[in-house]
Amino acid sequence: MNVTFFSTKPYDSTFFEQTNAGFGFNLRFLKVPLDETTAELVTDSPVVCLFVNDQANAAVIRKLASQGVQLIALRCAGFNNVDLEAARQCGIRVVRVPAYSPYSVAEHTLALILALNRKTHRAYNRVKEGNFALDGLMGFDMFGRTVGLVGLGKIGKVTAQILKGFGCHLLAFDLVEDEEARQIGIEYVSLVELLNRSDIISLHCPLTPQTYHLINQDTLKLMKKGAMLINTGRGALIDTQAVIESLKSGQLGYLGLDVYEEESHLFFEDLSDTIIQDDIFMRLLTFPNVLITGHQAFFTRNALTSIAQTTCQNIQAFSEGTVSGNEL
Ligand code: NAI
Repeated sequence: MNVTFFSTKPYDSTFFEQTNAGFGFNLRFLKVPLDETTAELVTDSPVVCLFVNDQANAAVIRKLASQGVQLIALRCAGFNNVDLEAARQCGIRVVRVPAYSPYSVAEHTLALILALNRKTHRAYNRVKEGNFALDGLMGFDMFGRTVGLVGLGKIGKVTAQILKGFGCHLLAFDLVEDEEARQIGIEYVSLVELLNRSDIISLHCPLTPQTYHLINQDTLKLMKKGAMLINTGRGALIDTQAVIESLKSGQLGYLGLDVYEEESHLFFEDLSDTIIQDDIFMRLLTFPNVLITGHQAFFTRNALTSIAQTTCQNIQAFSEGTVSGNEL
């Protein structure tokens, strides 16, 4: 069976070729992202394999259907970039990798928190220049701090367990409450209370119409002055312009991002030789208390191995006319 990959990077082909040795699909790797112009590159391929910034909107899905595509296999957990209703109408099935390594994202969340707190990103540059002054590098003890997790699913729970080890007090806001989480001492509260009480707020909910710009001009005002905000979920959970205003006024004390609402024009590419046109993103880079990584939270060997394995199993179930359990 032919499988066409979009947005392929060298690490994708490496991990998928290794895993595919046990499955025997015919993998075709395209470097371009999927959009309305590139959809027509799919020929004689019932399966396309997509990543987070491939755009499978209704127009693209209709085009894919007319090219004979029957399955969209997402090699990621989030599926906000796929119009599921359009896929259903066109008879295209959609599968994803619901869990591959919650540890990868949770541990990266901690990397952002600790680097922002102890200013590791600034210390690294100072020491390289022979500047050993400590002024401006003062942090705070994590012990005893209150951390609010918005979304207490797989990643949120692992993040909570790690933070427990630091001696943090944990608050959570989620649509569903989990008894096991309560038993390890996590306190479920409303979003407003979480924002009011947390020293650090970390976003681990999916991007949906309800969570779009969850952090905005109004909700930023509910946070403690000087609070830290971390987003490893999806970029559009945050209104970036509002966050910039909050950083400028000192209301928001720290910002750690692994995702950005306009990231599809930037992330996963080497743009170091180009003039970046996104003024909002460039403004973010000017703050000393902002740390941005380019959607790398998932990027561990363990996660890539698991993503390739589950994606191949999803495609195999489709080719055998069965279900893998990862259908959307
Ligand atoms: P999950 O499905 O296990 O957990 C999501 C949690 O959010 C659930 O408990 C759900 O009830 C809750 N939720 C849904 N709507 C909500 C709302 N309106 N308000 C509050 N909570 C809400 O998902 P998982 O695996 O923990 O992943 C979370 C998100 O992390 C994904 O949706 C994805 O966007 C993002 N992600 C980012 C990665 C990265 O590399 N930066 C990698 C993997 C996932």
